[in-house]
Amino acid sequence: MSSQAAPTRAKRLTAPEIQKRKGQIPLVTLTAYTTPMAEIMDPHCDILLVGDSLGMVVHGLPNTIGVTMDMMILHGQAVMRGAKTAFVVIDMPFGSYEASLEQAFTNAVRLLKETGAQAVKLESGPTVAETIRYLTLRGIAVMGHVGLRPQALNVEGGFKAKGRTEDERAKVIKEAQDSADAGAFAIVVEGVAADLAGEVTRLVSVPTIGIGASNACDGQVLVTDDMLGLFDWTPKFVRHYADLRTQIGAAVESYAKDVRDRSFPAPEETYFAK
Ligand code: KIV
Repeated sequence: MSSQAAPTRAKRLTAPEIQKRKGQIPLVTLTAYTTPMAEIMDPHCDILLVGDSLGMVVHGLPNTIGVTMDMMILHGQAVMRGAKTAFVVIDMPFGSYEASLEQAFTNAVRLLKETGAQAVKLESGPTVAETIRYLTLRGIAVMGHVGLRPQALNVEGGFKAKGRTEDERAKVIKEAQDSADAGAFAIVVEGVAADLAGEVTRLVSVPTIGIGASNACDGQVLVTDDMLGLFDWTPKFVRHYADLRTQIGAAVESYAKDVRDRSFPAPEETYFAK
């Protein structure tokens, strides 16, 4: 098998198997929100992330702050119906883990029990290592998330790449190391310069999964709808692998024309009495 070939798997990947991929074949990760998309992506991906980006991508919210536990559970259940062997991680939404260790545990358990996903992801911050330790000691697999943290939007004043000052670099490195030391099995590194991504990847013992963080990481994740070209605006770090916005627009335009000129449905698309 070449190192680029998709691995064939008879059963679902586990957190320890993902952890062992540090420095090995890069971990392929995409976001998933629905059953059919999870089915399509499952054979090609190591990890499917039910990201809280679903608030923006599926529900049209301006950011991820408004995403609720119920929204995550509904989409987590849909993804689990389609994902057969990929490892499924579900985001803990803003407000579901910051108040106390007990709140984080209760909500993480609810996400895992009600969806069947294998792990939760939390965005980092100065206090998150304590939460990661608390959850992992109690049997919950946790993925960390450092660098640009969309849930901190209101404190940060926008979605800004991280690591441009020495202070920021030190913070990102410390949060990544603290998350790994606390038991995270992998860490998303978002929106940081290539050299910082490389340094974090060298320094932490668990795989880093980059988004806007260069190819120095141990894996990559993208928001699926971004890479499929469903949006007008594309961040610099996204590569378009399809142009579905144009294709869907053209398909709907053709359908509308066919309905209006009565060429749809045709006789072969119509039931007739015997
Ligand atoms: O919510 C999400 O989709 C994410 C990815 C961008 C990593 O957290």
